[in-house]
Amino acid sequence: MLKKLDEIKSKAIDELSGISDIKALEDWRVRYLGKKSALTQVLRGLSALPVGERKRVGASANETKDMLEAALAQKSEELKETELALALERGGLDVTLPGRPIPLGRLHPVTQILQEICDIFASMGFQVVEGPEVEWDYYNFEALNIPRDHPARDMFSTFWIDFENERGERPMLLRTHTSPMQIRIMEKTRPPVRVVVPGKIYRYEATDATHETMLYQIEGLAVDENITLADLKGTLYEFARRLFGAERRVRFRCDYFPFVEPGAEMAIDCFICGGSGCRLCSNTGWIEIMGAGMVHPGVLRGVDYDPDTYTGFAFGMGVERIAMLRYGIDDIRLFYSNDLRFLRQF
Ligand code: DAH
Repeated sequence: MLKKLDEIKSKAIDELSGISDIKALEDWRVRYLGKKSALTQVLRGLSALPVGERKRVGASANETKDMLEAALAQKSEELKETELALALERGGLDVTLPGRPIPLGRLHPVTQILQEICDIFASMGFQVVEGPEVEWDYYNFEALNIPRDHPARDMFSTFWIDFENERGERPMLLRTHTSPMQIRIMEKTRPPVRVVVPGKIYRYEATDATHETMLYQIEGLAVDENITLADLKGTLYEFARRLFGAERRVRFRCDYFPFVEPGAEMAIDCFICGGSGCRLCSNTGWIEIMGAGMVHPGVLRGVDYDPDTYTGFAFGMGVERIAMLRYGIDDIRLFYSNDLRFLRQF
């Protein structure tokens, strides 16, 4: 058997030296290393041999195999090099041609803005957390002071999930805002709380240039002792200046959101016209960028925070809207229509 292996080896090496093209090399590989080759037969037959012989023949067969494989790899390299040299000689290969481009991906404009916003708040001590997109009615509405039949539910066009509980209710939905995470976070932690929550939200809406059924929001929440409206204003003012330029001015006006009291809408002065009025700001000089307010005492009580000890502020903004302002995009649908001509611009 050992003699047979020696024969195989020398015959194979002999033949290999005469090979000068890739096709013949492949035939050689099949003949000497393929499934039906004599060497493979020897390896397969090992188990039938007596132990002592099995060891010797096995070692030798494996050694032969390794050696033939190494010789094959070397020959293959040599052949490739000669073919390259020949092609160069014939002029068939132009090494001055540009290489094949490697397609390079990039971050979606919404992702870029999202990261930028999170970075700004992170630098002010806010933690970034995420939450579920499929939510319970309780977190999305109830715990945020929006009970069943409350007219404030009309502010949200909702996708309900077809899931019925034992009481015949359908309490599951696609979250309509990131605010439910305020509750989930406060349920799990004690103050001080400082978080921002980026994530997707869903609304049952007809799409147009300013409405989408899926979009991103960033929620913010800070709760501690002695947090006042001044903290809210200072934090959001700093945020606006970092994102839209140090010369920005901000405006807060009363607004209604059931989970804050007082509630506000924040606007920045228009960075196109500087406040004199243009198309972007609909001639008002101001651009609304988010809702905010002081966390409602009822909301705090609901998560077992004593509103006499703790106060807090919350805010929420649409990320696409910020990206549209920042890049001068006039149709929200562009973000999710996957047109590379659009996406490559960022
Ligand atoms: N969740 C509100 C919305 O989607 C936005 C909002 C307003 C969030 C005021 C807040 C807030 O945290 O304080 O319209």
